Amino acid sequence: MRILFIGDVVGSNGREMVKTHLSTLKKKYNPSITIINGENSAHGKGITQTIYRQFLELGAQAITLGNHAWDKREIFEFIDEAKYLIRPANYPEGTPGKGIAYVTFNDVEVAVINLQGRTFLPAIDCPFRKADELIEEAKKRTKIIFVDFHAETTSEKIAMGWYLDGRVTAVVGTHTHVQTADERILPEGTAFITDVGMTGPYDGILGVTKEAVLTRFLTNLPVRFEVDEGRGQLSGVIIELDKTSGHAKSIKRIQINDDHQEILM
Ligand SMILES: [Fe+2]
Repeated sequence: MRILFIGDVVGSNGREMVKTHLSTLKKKYNPSITIINGENSAHGKGITQTIYRQFLELGAQAITLGNHAWDKREIFEFIDEAKYLIRPANYPEGTPGKGIAYVTFNDVEVAVINLQGRTFLPAIDCPFRKADELIEEAKKRTKIIFVDFHAETTSEKIAMGWYLDGRVTAVVGTHTHVQTADERILPEGTAFITDVGMTGPYDGILGVTKEAVLTRFLTNLPVRFEVDEGRGQLSGVIIELDKTSGHAKSIKRIQINDDHQEILM
């Protein structure tokens, strides 16, 4: 059984990359479940109901979020009804939406959990303790548990990988938009990567036009960030797992851009 995960989709550029390549990736890897991180999918910040539905129509079964989950006001109107939209679980009690959802493939259930780090990000509840709580809940239903840990620092993400090793199928990092080359299966059977990378503009800076980011660095003045247009990229991972034990067997990085096209051959 395989899970395909596509990293942070940024703006229309990123959505276009998903539209263009998802069916090819599905043909090549035949995933049972496809998960997309969509927290930047609406103009680089947040997600709309239309985009959420588009992702499902394109063939994703679950959409995870992160610190930008709340940037489009309409999220508050639809998140409670969006069965497969998952926001970071460690927001305080009473926050709209949910941090865990279950998707099914051929009667096999997969728990999808979204957590957010606290280093250089808002001081929300402890993601480690929230993970303990949700894993206990999920284990009553399934051994296959997928965690998207949306966090800023490599250390916090690696710490989460070790903390959950053997208890979940995969811990994949998101948020920093640059794919790391440290994918591995941890000793107790959890697939791990510090960051999956982003899906969207290839020539900007983390998805934003390079001119705007450079002006910010050079002047320290406030600058309006716009999603870059032009060449796109897609970043993801494909995880193979044993559905009886819930342990991962392999994790492979996927990178599609003008410098890395080999993946489509
Ligand atoms: Fe983020």
